[in-house]
Amino acid sequence: MQTRIRVIDGSAGPRPSRAGRPLAAAAVLLTGAVVAVALGVYARAHHATGRPLATFGFSGTIQMKVWLSSAALVLVLVQLLTALWMWGRLPGRPKAPVWVATLHRWSGSVAFVLTIPVGLQCLWALGAGTGTGRVLLHGLAGCVFYGAYAAKMVGLRSRSLPSWAIAVLGGTVFTLLVVVWLTSAAWFFASDLPLT
Ligand code: HEM
Repeated sequence: MQTRIRVIDGSAGPRPSRAGRPLAAAAVLLTGAVVAVALGVYARAHHATGRPLATFGFSGTIQMKVWLSSAALVLVLVQLLTALWMWGRLPGRPKAPVWVATLHRWSGSVAFVLTIPVGLQCLWALGAGTGTGRVLLHGLAGCVFYGAYAAKMVGLRSRSLPSWAIAVLGGTVFTLLVVVWLTSAAWFFASDLPLT
């Protein structure tokens, strides 16, 4: 089972002993922490510009952010479903065909790319808002999301980590994006602001 999932994840090969696990776990956690803390420090220290960076054809920055992050959310839901399928946890679908792994990888990569202009705009133009619990939680989850994503990328390339660690990292990335979306885009969908 473990080897099959590693093959799907693109890191095929025999698993070495457990000796390297503490080092691999430390590398993963340290990477995540450094990325998340660096973004948080930048968000706090940098003077928020309040200016738009790019709207990519949307009528405004907020609309661009809301729609790109909603598209990213749909793609991470695809990631969740394909991950469950690959792990044999999707009811009625015991064995995942090869294309499921490709879809998993691509949906994750595209979702991540879609968050970049949004996260960049948040960090550069708005910084770390602390006005309400929602905004504070949004900023924290946004920073930790990038940390967790970086940690998952390092974890995927490690041959020492157990497969469940990859599942935990993937679940963390998914959960954080859901929190980021619920504390921003969902809130705007519920408001009277024009969404197009
Ligand atoms: C995955 C990364 C992120 C995504 C997808 C995301 C998405 C969004 C969206 C859709 C909005 C609503 C549109 C707007 O108000 O402009 C928003 C607002 C905001 N974001 Fe982010 N964001 C991310 C990361 C961050 C980070 C890292 C920070 C700062 C540490 C941050 C700070 C803010 C602030 C202060 C607001 C305004 C909230 C308000 O006043 O209602 N965001 N974000």
